[in-house]
Amino acid sequence: MHSRRSLMSGMALSAGVGLALALPPRRALAQAAPAGEGQKIWGGRFTEKPGALMQEINVSIDVDRRFWKQDLTASRAHAAMLARQKIITAEDAAKIDAGLKTIEGEIQGGTFPFRREYEDIHLNVEARLGELIGPASGRLHTARSRNDQVATDFKLWVRDALDEMQLKVRDLQLALVHRADEHFDTLMPGYTHLQPAQPVTLGHHLMAYVEMLGRDVSRMADARVRMNECPLGSAALAGTSFPIDRHMTAQALGFDRPTANSLDGVADRDFALETLSCFTLCAGHLSRLAEEMVIWSNPQFGFIGFSDSYSTGSSIMPQKRNPDAAELVRAKVGPISGDFLALNTVMKGLPLAYDKDLQEDKPPVFHAFDALDLAVRAMTGMVLDFKANKARMAAVAASGFATATDLADWLVQRLNIPFREAHHIAGGAVKLAEGRGVDLPQLTLKQLQGLHPGITADVYRVLTAEASCASRTSYGGTAPTLVKQQVQRWKSLLAAAAKA
Ligand code: ARG
Repeated sequence: MHSRRSLMSGMALSAGVGLALALPPRRALAQAAPAGEGQKIWGGRFTEKPGALMQEINVSIDVDRRFWKQDLTASRAHAAMLARQKIITAEDAAKIDAGLKTIEGEIQGGTFPFRREYEDIHLNVEARLGELIGPASGRLHTARSRNDQVATDFKLWVRDALDEMQLKVRDLQLALVHRADEHFDTLMPGYTHLQPAQPVTLGHHLMAYVEMLGRDVSRMADARVRMNECPLGSAALAGTSFPIDRHMTAQALGFDRPTANSLDGVADRDFALETLSCFTLCAGHLSRLAEEMVIWSNPQFGFIGFSDSYSTGSSIMPQKRNPDAAELVRAKVGPISGDFLALNTVMKGLPLAYDKDLQEDKPPVFHAFDALDLAVRAMTGMVLDFKANKARMAAVAASGFATATDLADWLVQRLNIPFREAHHIAGGAVKLAEGRGVDLPQLTLKQLQGLHPGITADVYRVLTAEASCASRTSYGGTAPTLVKQQVQRWKSLLAAAAKA
């Protein structure tokens, strides 16, 4: 019988189309992997080794070796539980424990043989344990499956990642609070629609980001609480007939309790998605601040400047000082929210319980963590680095008729004019000033009285940017005294968090 390959290539040639239409050499594709050693662990029912492409698509050790520590920790907790429940002997448990300790040393020392033939971190550790301690190693996998094992390891890693990210974001908050303290009364223009709106202080503006990041941290803390249930002991999907103590392993691994449904235990990746959504929101906040830094450092704004350590030059335009770091932080939300979308799409429509699709859960989480970690650190650096051009900001804050609202408010408060009418009169003042090429404080009393006869010289008190800011004393407002209070509040909140 003709093989399909020779038939097809023959057809392609006779049709004169060339070899492009020929099927790839099927046998070569299906060729046995050089060493499908992982199969020794699960391949009792197989007679042939997996093909090279099978191994290539199946292997995850290059990715999941990142949580080797969590894998060892979970295995040691499992072995200790098996021994206490008399499922394995104390002797075997001791051998397993010692072997896992040796492996830890090997990995730390860079001598552990990570082998792609053993698919993933779990089989790599198990294979090495066999080489180190012999047959006792085979008892470690009692009452456990790689399905609950990987869910547990990954959860432990994600939990650590959430903890670490909270610390990093708090460092950024601290940097912002520090700069806000320094600039609690530094005037700057406040914007809506990126058009001059009302004067604010730079301290107030920076503290807005402290609030956003505070919500990011609290979201991460919430996610951590929700995820802190231990899947270990769910086994492959249905639980196990061995008398295991899931509460013991849950406690040993710092979980609040074991997961209550074994199918959910192995199939749930909410914890990874929720973490990615927290990271996405946080990256979005960084992106907004980064964008403001890009704008503020534009010489036409001239509000801030970065030192050489956060600027780059142009290879062609000698005058350039580019805010590349800020631009890259601004961009990170793209790939990070992409990671959320990637995993959410992997999860969509997956039937219970474990599916190999779930192996695709790790790259987006690792990538998002690394990207956000770098973005937060770079932003912290930039916050501590920038120099504010106070004179320039104050001048711009006082321009653009930014105190028109203050004029309207004065008319309401002093002359008891309804706000809508006062708004109209102040609008007339803007029109007048604009026509004369001046700003509101430069209008003469006579000119103002032309708009409303009741206006007195007292009005000039509220037409400066300083006065405008100082008058915004409603709770949460930009008055420097209030900014100071918020700085103090956050200083103590962050100090308390650092101690906890
Ligand atoms: N490497 C796998 C993963 O990351 C481990 C679980 C494999 N389970 C299985 N039944 N093949 O998801």
